Amino acid sequence: MKIFIDTAKVGEIREAISWGVVDGVTTNPTLIRKAIEEERSSGRDVELEAYVGEICETAGEGRPVSLEVLSQEADKMVEEAKVLYDRFNPIAENVVIKIPVNTRAGRIASDYEGLKAIKELSGMGIPVNATLVMTPEQALLASKAGATYVSPFAGRVDDFIRTNLGIGFEKGDYFDFELLKEIFDARLSERLRDSLSRDVASIFLDREVRKMRDIGGNNGIISGVEVTRKIVRIFREYGMKTKVIASSIRNARQVREVAEVGCDIATVPFKVLQEMLRHPKTEEGVERFYSDAIRAKYKELFGNRS
Ligand code: E4P
Repeated sequence: MKIFIDTAKVGEIREAISWGVVDGVTTNPTLIRKAIEEERSSGRDVELEAYVGEICETAGEGRPVSLEVLSQEADKMVEEAKVLYDRFNPIAENVVIKIPVNTRAGRIASDYEGLKAIKELSGMGIPVNATLVMTPEQALLASKAGATYVSPFAGRVDDFIRTNLGIGFEKGDYFDFELLKEIFDARLSERLRDSLSRDVASIFLDREVRKMRDIGGNNGIISGVEVTRKIVRIFREYGMKTKVIASSIRNARQVREVAEVGCDIATVPFKVLQEMLRHPKTEEGVERFYSDAIRAKYKELFGNRS
């Protein structure tokens, strides 16, 4: 699985690239705002255009950088995409344009602007990352419209489900959907046992029973990892070329789970990359080996390096 870094902070991109683990970068307007604000608060006077250029340059050739449009109508998104592509792609030939899969946000009462923009840009040879994907259905349509990448937002799907269930959470919390499923399955079994005297149709149509089959009211999908797994499976089944970027990743365990489902890419925040490296026994082991070593002899061998 490839790993992209989900950040607009040039320092984080540079650092993670130096570890040899970064295959690309994803940004969004929120991340760019945060990065620029941080730079400004540390006294560096950066402007958006120059900063985005720096991101592309730092990522370098061969590492795609996703840059997002702002508009919500297809023609305007295409115009903005062309501006971004023409301005920043020459720097390192790595720009990918992020288009929201559906921009129906109240102002424009249309569901299809994103798809139209994806189709047009892909037709021009501009690679598109269909973003804000929350369902396999959206991913399927984005792929058919020509998207090079689709980005299922695993963490935000989990947020939706947890909120619907009234489960409080912090942003980085791991969502144990296996446990959740077991709880719902146990409840369902109990309910079915209690209704065995009723006729099948009335049990089948029982709203409470059906609700237990739709954990968190997410149309039958119980977690963000599950959304990702279904997209990967559909794309493989039909030999679709679009790559899946598991996005909105909140913790290391989620990275493991999207890797296990065969996802092409995970885009991971810097903090989660660090978390992926940690284990108390690794830390203890490093200390132990250091204190157990016959340091005087190692010193002879290594000189004053250790
Ligand atoms: C992905 O491309 C997005 O930039 C990002 O993963 C969103 O993550 P969030 O839901 O944690 O904001």
